[in-house]
Amino acid sequence: MTAFFRFSPRLAAATRAGLAASALLAGLSDGMAAPANTAEGQRLAKQWCAACHIVSADQKRGGDTAPSFASIARRPGFTPQKLAQFLMNPHPKMPDMQLTRDETRDLGAYIATLAQ
Ligand code: HEC
Repeated sequence: MTAFFRFSPRLAAATRAGLAASALLAGLSDGMAAPANTAEGQRLAKQWCAACHIVSADQKRGGDTAPSFASIARRPGFTPQKLAQFLMNPHPKMPDMQLTRDETRDLGAYIATLAQ
C-alpha cells in the first residue's frame, strides 16, 4: 500500500465585490407634503381674515375695503398656489400674520372652494 500524497496548492481567488451600499434617503421628504386641508383653511380664514374679508357664505359683514374671498376666488387667473404665494409676503394693507407655508396652502385651497 502506497500512500500517495499529492500536494496541490489551491489558489484562492479572492473576489471582492466592492459594492458599498449607500443609503440615499436625504431629500426624499421634500416636495411630498400632505395635501392641503380646506377645513383647516376655513378655520384660519375665520380666525385671521374675517375682521376685514367676508370669508364664507354664512358671514354677513366684513370690512368696507377688503374684497370677499368668494370674489377673489372667481377672479380670472386665480389659483390656490398663487394665493398661497401672495400670503407668504405681507400685503401693505394687511397685517403681517406670520402664516406658515402649510397655512397659506390651506387658505388657498379653502378660498378656491368658494368659487363654485
Ligand atoms: C386688517 C384687515 C385685513 C385682514 C385681517 C386681512 N386682510 Fe386681506 N385685504 C385687506 C384689504 C383692505 C385688501 C384690499 C387691498 C387692496 O385692494 O389693495 C385685502 C386684499 C386681500 C387679497 C387680494 C389681494 C389682491 O390681489 O387684490 C387677498 C387674497 C387677501 N386680502 C387675503 C387675506 C387673507 C387670506 C387673510 C387672512 C389670513 C387676510 N387677507 C386678512 C385687509 C385685510
